[in-house]
Amino acid sequence: APVAAPDLDLCEKATVTSKSAGTTKVACCPPKSANIIDFKPPKFSKIRYRPAAHMVDPEYLDKFTKAMELMKALPMEDPRSFMQQANVHCAYCNGGYDNGSPNQELQVHFSWLFYPFHRLYLYFYERILGKLIDDPNFAMPFWNWDAPRGMVIPEIYVDPDSPLYDEKRNVNHQPPKMLDLDYAGKEEELSKRDLIKSNLTVMYRQMVPNSTASLFHGKPYRAGEKPSPGMGSIENNPHTAIHRWVGDDREKYKEDMGNFYSAGKDPLFYAHHCNVDRLWNIWKSLPGKKRRDFTDTDWLDSSFLFYDENANLVRAKVRDCLDTRVLGYDYQKVNIPWLKNKP
Ligand code: C2O
Repeated sequence: APVAAPDLDLCEKATVTSKSAGTTKVACCPPKSANIIDFKPPKFSKIRYRPAAHMVDPEYLDKFTKAMELMKALPMEDPRSFMQQANVHCAYCNGGYDNGSPNQELQVHFSWLFYPFHRLYLYFYERILGKLIDDPNFAMPFWNWDAPRGMVIPEIYVDPDSPLYDEKRNVNHQPPKMLDLDYAGKEEELSKRDLIKSNLTVMYRQMVPNSTASLFHGKPYRAGEKPSPGMGSIENNPHTAIHRWVGDDREKYKEDMGNFYSAGKDPLFYAHHCNVDRLWNIWKSLPGKKRRDFTDTDWLDSSFLFYDENANLVRAKVRDCLDTRVLGYDYQKVNIPWLKNKP
């Protein structure tokens, strides 16, 4: 059976663990709501294009900054506030919910739920930001880390006076330090040029040969089953590598980006995940062999709960999010340099 949307009444404190710091409990359950609305595809007049974060113009940056400022200014109890939105990730990823039985935790990583969960999460986040600045066409930026010019933390996120800034990041990985898409905790000694080459090779390797749904998305995961059956290629690397690379190694749990419970407290998280989301679109349109999503109804009918821009609680299914153009958005077209980087 499909994974059912969690029962918010059963939400419990989440568990945070690290090898060195042990285990701790964190409260991150969302506010409750008596009503749940089923998701309906939005009406819109034009597609919004999510721009590459390193290419945005000052006018866009103003809007985005304003929206984030307003989100951070919402009262803590508002489900659309910055903290509550960050907590969405915590509750779904650190065992706040159960998967149909009290002793089986729900986990949206390490399985075929990874892409759809994050797509819907970002979708509602973007709608909230758009509503706050009264611009329904507002689209969030993506961190274009699969292209050489995007392989540093985008400048717009590193101004300490900006609401896009987060102080809990690795101090040695600020621009112009180049990202290592294979990062596993050790600093890469390669020259910049060799690192770019290595990163493009990682991208090719994770995107192109992984042509089946289960290699790309991750393994099937159904109601009542044990969490984390196996992750897809991109989730593994570079997705996880980038979380670890950004996270602050002075912090106990590598906050913010280095742990699920805190990752959503870094505004960069959403740009990172927009790129992951963009890669799902790109994967389906790669030349050659046709790549297809799962057709299993246990996947298609799995569902999640999110608060929308009007603070209504919405139940959305995987099948609702397969086509970003139905959701009203797409990505700015930029070069895809790794396509030619066959190792
Ligand atoms: Cu839900 Cu990048 O993790």
